[in-house]
Amino acid sequence: MNKTESLYERRKKSVPNALGIICSSSIQSAKGAIIIDADGRELIDFAGGIGVNNAGHGVNEIITAIQQQAEKFIHASFNVSIYEAYLDLTEKLCSLLPHGNATKTMLTLSGAESVENAIKIAKAVTGKPGIICYSGAFHGRSMMALTLTSNTRYKEGVGPYAPEVYRLEFPYYGPKEKKLFKNEEDFAAFHINKLNIFFSTYVSASQIAAVIMELVQGEGGFTVASKIYVTELRKICTEKNILLILDEVQTGFGRTGKWAAFEHYYITPDLSTWAKSMGGGMPIGAVIGRQEIMDAVKPGLIGGTYLGNALCCVASLASINYMQKNNINAAAEIVGKIVLEKFMQLQKLYPNNISDVRGLGAMLAIEFVKPNTNEADSETAKAIVNKCFVNGLITITSGTSGNCIRILSPLFIENEILQKGLSILEKSIQEIIQ
Ligand SMILES: Cc1ncc(COP(=O)(O)O)c(C=O)c1O
Repeated sequence: MNKTESLYERRKKSVPNALGIICSSSIQSAKGAIIIDADGRELIDFAGGIGVNNAGHGVNEIITAIQQQAEKFIHASFNVSIYEAYLDLTEKLCSLLPHGNATKTMLTLSGAESVENAIKIAKAVTGKPGIICYSGAFHGRSMMALTLTSNTRYKEGVGPYAPEVYRLEFPYYGPKEKKLFKNEEDFAAFHINKLNIFFSTYVSASQIAAVIMELVQGEGGFTVASKIYVTELRKICTEKNILLILDEVQTGFGRTGKWAAFEHYYITPDLSTWAKSMGGGMPIGAVIGRQEIMDAVKPGLIGGTYLGNALCCVASLASINYMQKNNINAAAEIVGKIVLEKFMQLQKLYPNNISDVRGLGAMLAIEFVKPNTNEADSETAKAIVNKCFVNGLITITSGTSGNCIRILSPLFIENEILQKGLSILEKSIQEIIQ
């Protein structure tokens, strides 16, 4: 038994089985896009800690910032003793991601916590109870976030869930939809009509506080929301005093080639939620919103002991500055082009197995179906992930059926390593789909 296997053996004794295993790798150290596992084996990282390591592993600026802060103090609780690191970060986020003329930021610890608080803020400010979310959505695993999450695999037997949550079909104009509709305009009009029917026959817009959406669904399989639909949705939300919350937890900080996916859509949300690559590996998230919305909430309604922990704040600020200095968005565009080209080649090679190549910027996935059907092939996707690991590449699946393989590699990845990772993926697909 090697060291990695023995770690998994130890895991069985003290860690609940319910905590899933996405890839059977281990880690003892990492730099850039390379992970050294417990046995000293080099692995290429296409998972990035599930979208956390856009800036890469072992960034000196982040390490130094954490070390220096740790020597000063680690935790104080911002609502007991104020400190600069917190304000440096909130000022940075407000200027990098403005939500209208004046913006405010609440710091959190995770994506789910950002979502919980955004919903709370939306309800408190509008005085309305209802929330609209989408099929395929993933917003986290805390109770409100889990209510909004679509995949029943994460939800079985732990309800009841929060009331007044309504789910619409996510407006992805993909290969199946292209067969059903003449063009994207017709597709978007169909879904907007469904929204209007929802308001007139199901729940009045006067009862809906917010619509929450991922513009590119992360766990849902990198499906991209129709731009025409989203533009119209933005208008409807404004007209009907419904807040538009965009969940940028997985799309944010360069993944799509912009700081925010909403920049691709030329719209601004009322509130947005962040985490993952915001922290450079430390657990921190944010709710960013228009000042008048953020300030309409009564003091004390939002908060938490660790929110904006000093070590997390300095790590986040150092990571954002590093990504800005080295132009993460340009890096993502390059990675995205290379990955997309490879995925298109793979689809040509395996047209009966790969039904879709999709995503935005460097947030790209391939979808596997059982040959010549529309049926999700999660077994093949899982077998490829396992084969990739044997061949030296860490990858992860996504999609509500787990039948997609997604790329969440660091965006500052050397071309040679990226190409090598893609070759391993190709070889592994070849070994599984003969
Ligand atoms: C879009 C989105 N929102 C929220 C979350 C939840 O984030 P966390 O795992 O930090 O709670 C995730 C996690 O994958 C996500 O992708």
